[in-house]
Amino acid sequence: MSLSIAPYKHRKLTIPFLIIIILIGTYLLVQTFNSGLGILAPANRYLLKQTSQLNSSFVRRAILVFYPTNQEAHYLSEIRWLYRSWIEMMKYESKSWRTDLIIYTERYSLSFQQLGCIVNEIRKNETEPPQCRIFLYLRISNRKINSVTNHQTIFVDTNKKELFNVNIPRSTLLYRHLSTYGYIDSVNIIAEGYPTFKYYDFILKTDIDVFITKQFAKFIPFEHNGLLVGRGGYSSDFNNRRLARIARDMNWTHQGIPNIGSTWYGSPYIAQRIATLTLDAMLHLYNNEFARAEREQKLGTLLWPDWHYGVLSMYGTHLAVNHLLISEKLNVTKADQLLDQSTTNPDQFDLEKNNRLHLHCWHTEKKFSKFQFKLGQYNQIHPRTLLNDSSAQAYAMRMALESGLMSLEELGQRLRDISSNRTI
Ligand SMILES: *[C@@H]1O[C@H](CO)[C@@H](O)[C@H](O)[C@H]1NC(C)=O
Ligand SMILES: *[C@@H]1O[C@H](CO)[C@@H](O)[C@H](O)[C@H]1NC(C)=O
Ligand SMILES: *[C@@H]1O[C@H](CO)[C@@H](O)[C@H](O)[C@H]1NC(C)=O
Ligand SMILES: *[C@@H]1O[C@H](CO)[C@@H](O)[C@H](O)[C@H]1NC(C)=O
Ligand SMILES: *[C@@H]1O[C@H](CO)[C@@H](O)[C@H](O)[C@H]1NC(C)=O
Repeated sequence: MSLSIAPYKHRKLTIPFLIIIILIGTYLLVQTFNSGLGILAPANRYLLKQTSQLNSSFVRRAILVFYPTNQEAHYLSEIRWLYRSWIEMMKYESKSWRTDLIIYTERYSLSFQQLGCIVNEIRKNETEPPQCRIFLYLRISNRKINSVTNHQTIFVDTNKKELFNVNIPRSTLLYRHLSTYGYIDSVNIIAEGYPTFKYYDFILKTDIDVFITKQFAKFIPFEHNGLLVGRGGYSSDFNNRRLARIARDMNWTHQGIPNIGSTWYGSPYIAQRIATLTLDAMLHLYNNEFARAEREQKLGTLLWPDWHYGVLSMYGTHLAVNHLLISEKLNVTKADQLLDQSTTNPDQFDLEKNNRLHLHCWHTEKKFSKFQFKLGQYNQIHPRTLLNDSSAQAYAMRMALESGLMSLEELGQRLRDISSNRTI
């Protein structure tokens, strides 16, 4: 009897003790998670606000997008509203800061000439006014390979080879395997276009269906050698386990951060490293993790939100970032409350209070919806009626409507007006 009592008493003490250990352990884990990855940390922890001291120092930034020239009817409206929101943002920016808009595309089309964009010119110094810069970039699907010589056409303008840093074997593989994949160029411009943007302190790599907010005017990432990544939506439990296993197959490390977005804000060097490894990972995934029927998109979205070929570039980025965080100790932080924010939020105080830097059109029919906008459903709304509404929803709506009512020349003129004001 007495023999069994002693262990029992002992156990009674052990259980609360274990619970305390578990609680402390969990607390420590959460703390590490917070400080190490910043996922749950408040925004101001990784954002530096413009101060009088920062005002007078030069900050050089660029917004980078890929623009498919042959689908102008579909995408020009997005370029217009991005451009409109970019110059709106500049009204609030310090006079000594410079934020360029850089567009990688195949043709210096009339639209870009009317917008006042300049072509194939890298920023030279910090006093040059803010510019819209076009860099002529041959998209992967147009990099034909000569069947006799095996030579691949890589440049739009062979006199400007120095603008791009092309890994030719990889370019060939991308052409053979991924030329029909829709988002390949928006990653590839960051890998190959490094010479065109390494000048900047910070870059924002983004899609074109976005809006730059007024808050972007005042905030830069806290770490000069860091990068903030936006919101992704691909991480089911299945995918997290599968991607961790694929990282092991590739002999890559895997930090385990889920849902890494396609918008990046920070160091050009880090962005370029991520893009380069993302391309390698995409080629690996293409060859090893998708059956032909999946690659040919015959399954549609049947497997979503689990394994889905349509978000291949996201899986690639996931593998690249989770590897680089460990292997090269790059400072990458998730900022899913700052970037890729919703255009449907009606809260009057949200943009200001939560430092939303960048709005991204999601798949929605709610206001502001890019689909409804393109169908002309908002044409009856006069943008002036939105002036006093400080919500993200109204901001996106006003920028889009105004940009549609203005001619391209007028938009270009607005930029020149702002530029002439920046004489520091
Ligand atoms: C710095 O910028 C802020 C906001 O643009 C402005 O209010 C402030 O006067 C500026 N300070 C200096 C010293 O220029
Ligand atoms: C900066 O570059 C612009 C454009 O090339 C040039 O006109 C200007 O003189 C340069 N300014 C300085 C201070 O070098
Ligand atoms: C895997 O990576 C480690 C560390 O980078 C390296 O030492 C090892 O040789 C690699 N193994 C293979 C099979 O590539
Ligand atoms: C990352 O940031 C920390 C400071 O938070 C810094 O000490 C470290 O050098 C940075 N790492 C790199 C690779 O720049
Ligand atoms: C916006 O607010 C100002 C000042 O409160 C007011 O005078 C103006 O009429 C308002 N404009 C609209 C379109 O509601």
